Amino acid sequence: MPRFDESFLEELTARADIVDVVSRYVSLNRKGERYWGLCPFHGEKTPSFSVVPDKQFYYCFGCGRGGGVINFIMDAERLEFADAVAHLASLCNMELPERGDGGAADFKKRLCAMNAEAARFFHANLKSPAGAAAVAYLQKRRLSPATVTRFGLGYALPGWNTLSDHLRRLGYTNAEMLEGGLVRKSERGVYDVFRDRLMFPIIDARGNVLAFGGRVLTGDGNGQKYINTNNTPVYSKKNTLYAYNIARKTAEKQMILVEGYMDAVSLHQAGFTNTVASLGTALTAEHAKLLSRTVREVVIAYDTDKAGTAATERAIGIFSENGVSMKILRVPGGKDPDEFVRLNGAEEFRKVLAGAEQQMDYRLRTAKSGADLSTEEGRIAYLKAAGKLLSELSSRIELEVYAGRVAEETGVSRDTVMAEADRLRRAAFSRERKKEHTEDLNPERLVQPRRDSGVRYADPAAARGEEELISLLCTRPSLTAEAARRVTAGDFTSPELGRIYGALTAEAAAGKEPDVNLLSASLAPEDMRLLGKILAADRPHRGTERELADVCGRVARRRTEPDVDPLLALRDRKREQQTER
Ligand code: CTP
Ligand code: MN
Repeated sequence: MPRFDESFLEELTARADIVDVVSRYVSLNRKGERYWGLCPFHGEKTPSFSVVPDKQFYYCFGCGRGGGVINFIMDAERLEFADAVAHLASLCNMELPERGDGGAADFKKRLCAMNAEAARFFHANLKSPAGAAAVAYLQKRRLSPATVTRFGLGYALPGWNTLSDHLRRLGYTNAEMLEGGLVRKSERGVYDVFRDRLMFPIIDARGNVLAFGGRVLTGDGNGQKYINTNNTPVYSKKNTLYAYNIARKTAEKQMILVEGYMDAVSLHQAGFTNTVASLGTALTAEHAKLLSRTVREVVIAYDTDKAGTAATERAIGIFSENGVSMKILRVPGGKDPDEFVRLNGAEEFRKVLAGAEQQMDYRLRTAKSGADLSTEEGRIAYLKAAGKLLSELSSRIELEVYAGRVAEETGVSRDTVMAEADRLRRAAFSRERKKEHTEDLNPERLVQPRRDSGVRYADPAAARGEEELISLLCTRPSLTAEAARRVTAGDFTSPELGRIYGALTAEAAAGKEPDVNLLSASLAPEDMRLLGKILAADRPHRGTERELADVCGRVARRRTEPDVDPLLALRDRKREQQTER
């Protein structure tokens, strides 16, 4: 199996969202936390093929095929691992890494290394006398030294060539600085893009410094309040969220989405480390998918000004289209989240956060506030807008509740409001049906069903505990290193589960948090299939130390005390076989 650069595989699996990829072959419907469709690998009339977006896995309860996104391509296109990777890369418009010197991957690494040097330089400037004004500005904004360090904030000196001279001394060329967006060309060489600005490095999940935002130290700087790096070979705005490198580690179920650098940094400092910023640019489907992988719900906390309100509308659309649950938070008093938390403190913000609205409440309220309900025209305009909003509701109960509210507000009967919503819903549905019809399944993709669903465990009861441990680690990868200290792959009674556990802990031993989807590089398709099955069971995990200790204890105990009750084991075996059928 040819080896791929690990960072390349990471990027590939990060970009190739499994729901997108599978949707090219199967039409999927969301139900709760997962998607369902007709299995492309065996003929069936009722959907038993499921995709779990959280874990980026698929599993068919009918034929037992399953795995990560690369395995799906292997199955669907009947390709070997390396060819599936190449196929997937071309679907995602990614170039395969070239090997050796001068390759694209090496070039990107070099740009990131240069950016890291620039960030270090900016940060060090804060400690020099020339950085005094920037330090004073940070104090004025109430950012603590710890926060400044955590976010690697810095200061770009006022000169035209301070950064470029520094980088040149370190061996970087003008061409590299240009590619990285740190300098611009002039008649006589190059000059620094960022001058006399507070600097915010933009860092990805792997710790690479991709880009910068620079803020003027005084006022709002006549429209040039911020200068941001444009897209470069290592930075694409549509894939990047500010502070995601820190926020993605959150244990919270929610992510707070704000507009600005300052909002994100301030909220982190106030303890809301589950905050990311979309940096004033339009939210993209890529951003939405990135977030939906880390948390269950996004709280949109954009500014309440006109631009922020429009951005909120767009964000609601993007999140809905991508199946991401959301709430909307409007910071009271016309403040942005940074000002609010600075003026009122973390506790007040926590209250506001708890009061974040469901999107339907928010949108109805916004539609109502834009209409004058004391006039007939106003009521009709509101009813039309409301009917359209309500037509998006798939739950009958919600529809009744909201329709009742609108009826009360306008003096029209609830049945009429509901009838209007139903009419619009049917119209939208038939438009959708027409579209789907043209994108139907290609029958050549169907292959013969595989009736066997794989493994028969020698000791089903023990295997259940072992599956439990694997499931826990896939849900909470950060626990893997601790698990490895308590249990080894040799403790497993099932060789296949032992292999999966071994692959997970090998990642941890290399100092990384295992990424389930990357295991397809080290595990055979059969083992990935089994892992798919384990994850499809979607066991609930609290992910506490206590749970880890319990589950590890069960696995370790099995090894030392084999099953004492043969009758029980027999019953377990029978049950296992039944559930596998
Ligand atoms: N932005 C930008 N260029 C500008 C203004 C804004 O790129 N000229 C982006 C920045 O990413 C900024 C975000 O839009 O963080 C939100 O803008 P704004 O609310 O004006 O800035 P704040 O982050 O609130 O900054 P501050 O509180 O320092 O004014
Ligand atoms: Mn602000």
